Amino acid sequence: MKKIGILTGGADCPGLNSVIRSVVRKAVMEGFVVTGIKNGWNGLMDGDMRILDLRMTSGILDRGGTILGTSRVVPPFEPEKMKIIAENFKRSGMDALITVGGEDTLKVALDLYKQYGIPVVGVPKSIDNALSGTDYAFGFDTAVNIATECIDRLHTTAESHHRIIVIEVMGRYTGWIALEAGIAGGANIILVPEYPIDIDQVCQSLNERHKRGKMFSIIVVSEGARVKGYSLESFGPERRKSRRSSNVSELIANLIEEKTGYETRVSVLGHIQRGGTPSAYDRIISTRFGVRAVELVKENLFGKMVSLHNNKIRYVSIEDAVRKRKMIDKDLYEISKVFSG
Ligand code: F6P
Repeated sequence: MKKIGILTGGADCPGLNSVIRSVVRKAVMEGFVVTGIKNGWNGLMDGDMRILDLRMTSGILDRGGTILGTSRVVPPFEPEKMKIIAENFKRSGMDALITVGGEDTLKVALDLYKQYGIPVVGVPKSIDNALSGTDYAFGFDTAVNIATECIDRLHTTAESHHRIIVIEVMGRYTGWIALEAGIAGGANIILVPEYPIDIDQVCQSLNERHKRGKMFSIIVVSEGARVKGYSLESFGPERRKSRRSSNVSELIANLIEEKTGYETRVSVLGHIQRGGTPSAYDRIISTRFGVRAVELVKENLFGKMVSLHNNKIRYVSIEDAVRKRKMIDKDLYEISKVFSG
């Protein structure tokens, strides 16, 4: 009989509860016991944890967020906290720790594994889809679907009012949501962090559309995209830090109005992309990830992250997964250009 701990860390996303349910189901089937750790790494620092049974984890497959709570505590840069976490884990009598999270959470898991010998297994989640080592991190599909629906809605109002609408989606370092939701929503211009924005080129493209009689346009931009030659500092770094919205969409809208005279509006989708019920795809992937994570514990395979490769569930070392971010697919970006303007 093994005792497994599970925590969800970093940003929440749809599908976390599906993983928790899946881990508990599979573990109970194997005769293992699962302890839920509350609020990410905080729960291991404060000893806030409780046994999860089938009853507590039934009916949560379709529920957004995480029943365990989460936090953005990132302690690998604070050795004292890492020591407390490692000691508390060892004292708890758990045999393995399943960490469900993105880049930051998995980096902490890797540190615990390498420096303190904690037997960890990672499960990748990221609405940004920015994790390497896996074709897919759950949460992304739901976010793309939500953003696409919003783009559809904004399309009709943009057309009625003959306006430009700049839609800001999440994605601090990578443009996956902007690219996929932009293609699915028929955006006229897609702007991503991977390629600095040439605002004159954007305006030229809008002018050409107007000449063709298209008096409205939809621009989708990742929050992490930057405009060549312009800084966002004028919006105040402190305000940006607390709100986590870069305001790049405001800057782009202002520049478009200034340079073209076209009436422009901004819509920042924000956390709506992370809330609510997971898509069917995210439910299925997170369920598959959860089962495989328990199997890895059973096989004593630690320091690994479950992953998706060609629609098969595999595993990779966490080290490989967090080494560098997965940037947008260049081929898909090229395809998006066929529809730009
Ligand atoms: O990393 C996921 C993510 O949703 C990013 O896309 C976004 O920039 C960030 O988290 C927002 O974080 P918070 O919820 O802490 O404001």
